[in-house]
Amino acid sequence: MPPPSEKEELPKQGWTMWRYRGWLPLRNGEEPVSLGEGMTPLLRWPALESALTLRTVWIKDESQNPTGSFKARGLSAAVTGAVRAGARNLTIPTAGNAGVALSAYARRAGLPVHVFAPKTTPATILQQIRSFGAELVLVDGHIGDCGKAARQFAGEHGAFDVSTLREPYRIEGKKTMGLELTEQMGWRLPTVIIYPAGGGTGLIGMWKAFRELREAGWLTDPMPRFYAVQSTGCAPVVTAFESRSEKTEPWSDPETVAAGLRVPAPLGGRLMLRALRDSKGGAVAVSDAELLDAQARLGEQGMDASPEGGATAAALARLVEQGSVHRDDLVVLFNTGAGWLYR
Ligand SMILES: Cc1ncc(COP(=O)(O)O)c(C=O)c1O
Repeated sequence: MPPPSEKEELPKQGWTMWRYRGWLPLRNGEEPVSLGEGMTPLLRWPALESALTLRTVWIKDESQNPTGSFKARGLSAAVTGAVRAGARNLTIPTAGNAGVALSAYARRAGLPVHVFAPKTTPATILQQIRSFGAELVLVDGHIGDCGKAARQFAGEHGAFDVSTLREPYRIEGKKTMGLELTEQMGWRLPTVIIYPAGGGTGLIGMWKAFRELREAGWLTDPMPRFYAVQSTGCAPVVTAFESRSEKTEPWSDPETVAAGLRVPAPLGGRLMLRALRDSKGGAVAVSDAELLDAQARLGEQGMDASPEGGATAAALARLVEQGSVHRDDLVVLFNTGAGWLYR
């Protein structure tokens, strides 16, 4: 665990996720590669409260990060780590948003980058990746196939591979979603977190953050119940959770409009399942029609959510219906990205 910074020090820190530098792998005096990531709003969402007769629903709006998604956090940390390690060029396999974020942060650091993305990735996302000057390689397959291509490229060209959970920094960056949420709530925790799970780093990162905060005595509330939401077209975590398995089985033929959830064999499968079970939460699969409908409703209420963000609202409705989420729960949904990137 990193040496915790003092709570009293926080107000003196800048207004980015790096205000939690005492909890992050940053050396004394080291400057991170930053575009102002983090410090996204936690918005009360009365429309969902009244529709589902719940007292308190918030949405943590991660679409307001640089490059339009929560991926900015992990990639700011990963590029900071890569620069420190002396990397000369970078590579990443991506479902889309991580590729946009890496391209921007690599530009900021002056490093070239090769991005491997499925050819089915939404056109605007691909255009954003190119706009930051990255070399984009389109792969006829899913993110697992992109991972193989990126590893081969890294081996042949000595590129630093920033794949999810293959380097240690991305998860640390994602941890700041949990640190920030806790500070925004006055060092309290919600009782329920609903998160759209693909590779799983967001969920695992928050779980790690809350554990570290509790161990350091910054937090006494019990762990929130974590619920992972996936699409019925690619739901390896939900299937493993329901069959009480400790690990996920690769999902054949993954298919969903929520590109970030099209992860058939998440490397973090075991850790996600542990976080869901330890926290007494669960896992829910919603159809693409349901998640798109929920996304459209959030749009009508003023939030341009990603399909993945829509999935969390669809999952909340399901969990209320099942009796897993109750009127007095304090619920936080994560809108992990911006809807315009998918158009
Ligand atoms: C918008 C969006 N939401 C959710 C996810 C899944 O995130 P994680 O890898 O943290 O499970 C992704 C990943 O690509 C994404 O782009």
